[in-house]
Amino acid sequence: MDNFKLNDGNEIPAVGFGVFMNGAGTEENVQQALAAGYRSIDTAVIYRNERLVGRGLKLSGIAREEVFITTKLWPSSYPLKKGLRILRESLERLQLESVDMVLLHRPHGKVREAWQMLEHAQELGLVKSIGVSNFIEEDLDKLLSYSMVKPAVNQLELHPYWQQRKLREYMSAEEILPEAWYPLGHGSKELLSEPTLLELAKAYGKTVAQLILRWHLQSGIRPLPKSSNEARIRENLALDDFELSSEAMSSIDKLERSKALGEPRWLSKIASRLPTPPQLN
Ligand code: A2P
Repeated sequence: MDNFKLNDGNEIPAVGFGVFMNGAGTEENVQQALAAGYRSIDTAVIYRNERLVGRGLKLSGIAREEVFITTKLWPSSYPLKKGLRILRESLERLQLESVDMVLLHRPHGKVREAWQMLEHAQELGLVKSIGVSNFIEEDLDKLLSYSMVKPAVNQLELHPYWQQRKLREYMSAEEILPEAWYPLGHGSKELLSEPTLLELAKAYGKTVAQLILRWHLQSGIRPLPKSSNEARIRENLALDDFELSSEAMSSIDKLERSKALGEPRWLSKIASRLPTPPQLN
């Protein structure tokens, strides 16, 4: 699968391995994912598992420069003065000298100071690409009004039930790549047993999960599937031997329900004020 090209000139593997809620199994899952061929891991301070990602990468035996690592900073650590320290702590946990991408996890708190800190960290070479997550149009408008560097990505909840088309059109005009968290609707039984998808899966000789992930790629979305099961980890990367027809794409587009499965914005605002919990060892 071809890499996605970012607006800063860097390239990013088409599919990333997500480790939200992989918990203590993260170290093993990261090794399994790298052995299966993933070359990108997506973690966050709030997932508490950066140390396990760092160890999994080391133990995999795969050269550091071959793997694209993303982490995300939590709003309660946004203030500038603490900012670089917070970033250096992530680097230490990941056992990295520099990280490929850092995102502001949510559009709450001192976003401007935090973005300027990331721009500074990029200048210093501590991070190659910078971006955001869970930003809607008004958050991006604000950010673009003062930023020197445009976010390379905006990581959002995206799946066939919640496609956020208007926001994605805005991002496309600004060349901000959409990345998907919950790309499989967080394993929603309803989504994974949608009759349209079951039918298409049969016709293509693929699983429903593979169809959904292929739909993301053909929609210009970078999916970050998460799994703690080795067979499904492999399954979710086996996407390059088929292509969905435009009819198949539009029948998946029609599954839109205009309803997110993840937490609502008001809740995320409250959650963003909470300090980060202790990291796993
Ligand atoms: P498991 O970890 O047991 O594989 P998302 O990436 O959208 O958050 O979805 C993650 C959820 O979907 C997890 O519960 C995961 O369970 C499940 N999942 C991941 N890959 C697949 C797959 N290929 N088929 C079915 N369920 C999957």
